Amino acid sequence: MKRLIAEREKARLGGGEKRIEAQHNKGKNTARERIAMLLDEGSFEEYDMFVTHRTTDFGLDKQHYLSDGVVTGYGTIDGRPVYIFSQDFTVFGGSLSETYADKICKIMDQALKVGVPVIGINDSGGARIQEGVRSLAGYASIFQRNIMASGVIPQISAIFGPCAGGAVYSPALTDFVMMAEKTSYMFVTGPKVVKTVTGETITEEDLGGATVHASKSGVTHFVASDEEEGILLIKKLLSYLPQNNLEEPPLAICDDPIDRLEESLNTIIPEQPSQPYDVKQVIEAIADNGEFLEVQRQYARNIVIGFVTFNGISTGIVANQPSYLAGCLDINASRKAARFIRFCDAFNIPIVSLVDVPGFLPGSAQEFDGIISNGAKLIFAYGEATVPKITVILRKAYGGAYCVMSSKHLRGDVNYAWPKAEIAVMGPAGATEVLYNRELKGIEDPEERARFVAEKESEYREKFANPYEAAKYGYIDDIIEPRNTRFRIIRALQILSTKKDSNPPKKHSTLPL
Ligand code: HXC
Repeated sequence: MKRLIAEREKARLGGGEKRIEAQHNKGKNTARERIAMLLDEGSFEEYDMFVTHRTTDFGLDKQHYLSDGVVTGYGTIDGRPVYIFSQDFTVFGGSLSETYADKICKIMDQALKVGVPVIGINDSGGARIQEGVRSLAGYASIFQRNIMASGVIPQISAIFGPCAGGAVYSPALTDFVMMAEKTSYMFVTGPKVVKTVTGETITEEDLGGATVHASKSGVTHFVASDEEEGILLIKKLLSYLPQNNLEEPPLAICDDPIDRLEESLNTIIPEQPSQPYDVKQVIEAIADNGEFLEVQRQYARNIVIGFVTFNGISTGIVANQPSYLAGCLDINASRKAARFIRFCDAFNIPIVSLVDVPGFLPGSAQEFDGIISNGAKLIFAYGEATVPKITVILRKAYGGAYCVMSSKHLRGDVNYAWPKAEIAVMGPAGATEVLYNRELKGIEDPEERARFVAEKESEYREKFANPYEAAKYGYIDDIIEPRNTRFRIIRALQILSTKKDSNPPKKHSTLPL
C-alpha cells in the first residue's frame, strides 16, 4: 500500500517539479491539470500510470518516468463518458515513444468498442528521437485508429503546445481541432527546415500559430484565447454531439418559445438586392436563445457553419454570408461546408441551410485551383446526406448554387423560401445581357439603352426573380413569412425526426477528394 501511494505520487509529478514550473512559466497547464479542468470532478479513471518506455539507447535506460509522457483514461463531462489522452510535455518534451503510442491506442480501441468520444490534448515535441522507427510506427498505429473511429465516435483534438512533423496528422484526422492562442503551433516542417530548404525566414507563430490555421489554412476549427477557454469550448461542442453514430444527439432543455415571432426578420433583407446583411443575425434570431456555436469562424467567411438547437434539437447550420464576398461559393467555402455536412450526417445531426448565394465565385484563380472539383464536394456532401435537411432561401439562389445548396433535387426534405427570394439561372442584369445581346448592340443612345435594359430586367425579375415560379413546380414547399421562420423550422424538424433514408450499398463512394 505504501509503495502504491509513493508510486502514484511519483507518476503525478511527471518530469519533475522543475519542468512543471517551466511549463507554468510558459502560461501552460500540465497534462493532469488539463484533465482535471475538462472532466467532472472525481470522474477520471486513469490507465497505465505505471507504464515506462523500453528503450536502452542514448542512456534512456537510466531515465524512466512513470506514465511515459502521456496521461490516459476515461471520465465524464457533464455526466457523459469520454476517453481522453493528455500529452505531458514535462516528460521528454511530450515526445511519442512506442509505449506511449500503445497507451493512446488502448484507449482509442476501447472508446470505439463502447461508443464514446475521444479527446486528445496535444503538447509534444513529436516522435521520440531516441526510439527511431518504433516511434514512427506508433504514430501510424494511432492514425489507423483515427481512421477506424472516423464517423463512428466523435474525435476532438486540443492543441495546447507544439504539434510538429507527422504528429500533426492525428489531429488532422479527427473531427475538430482547437488551438490555444500564442502557446500552440502546428506545422509539418518547422521554421529551421523551411529556412534550410526554401531560404524563407518565418516565425513559429507566423508559420503555424492559431491565427494562421484559423484564417488561412482552415486546419483549426476553434481558437481559444487560453487553455481555460479552450476547455469550455470543448464542453460546449460536446453538448451538441451524440456519443456515437448509432445514437441521437442529446436533447437540450429549451425555455425559448417555439412560436416566438421574430419581427426583425421581416425587414432584414435590404431593399437593394445587391446590399449585404449579416446572416448571423438571422441564425441568432431563429435559434434557441440566440445561441450559436460557430465553427471555423475566421475561415472562408462567405459561408457560415456551426451548431444551434431548435427547441432543444441539436442542428447543424450552413448559411451563405452576403456580407463577405457577397456570399459567393468558392473553393474554401465549398470544402468547409462539405466537411461539416458530412460530419453532421455521420452523427445524426439534422442540417438547416440558409441560402443567399449569387453563384460560384468567377475568375481564373478559382478555375485554376479547381473550383469544379471542390464545388463538387459540396454537391456530393448534400446529396449523400440522409439526415433531415431543411432549406430556407432567404434571397438569392442563382444558377448552380441553387442546385448545390440543399435543393429539393438533392433530397432536401423541406424547402422554404422567403417572399423576396430570387430563384433563377442567373441574376437579371446578366440574363438581360445574354438574352438581348443583339438588340443592345443596335442601340447607340445611352439613355435609350438604359431604358431598354431596365424594362427587360424588370420583365425578367417579374418572371423569374421570385419564389413563385419554383413554388409552382413544387421545388419550394411553401413561401413563408420571415418572422415565422423559427416556428416553421422547428415544426419541420419535429416531423422529420423519424425520417429514414439510405444510400445504395457500396464499399464507399468515390467522392471527388
Ligand atoms: C526526445 C525531446 C524531443 C523529441 C523535445 N525533447 N523534443 N526528446 N524526442 N522529439 C526533450 C528535450 O530534449 C528536453 O529534454 C525536453 O524535451 C524539452 O525540450 P526543450 O527543447 O528544452 O523545450 P522547448 O525549448 O520548449 O522546445 C520545444 C520544441 C523542441 C520546440 C518541441 O524541443 C524541439 O524542436 N524538439 C524537436 C522537435 C522535432 O523535430 N520533433 C521531431 C518531429 S518529426 P530535457 O531533458 O532537457 O528536459 C516527427 C515525425 C513524426 O515527429 C512522424 C509521424 C508520421
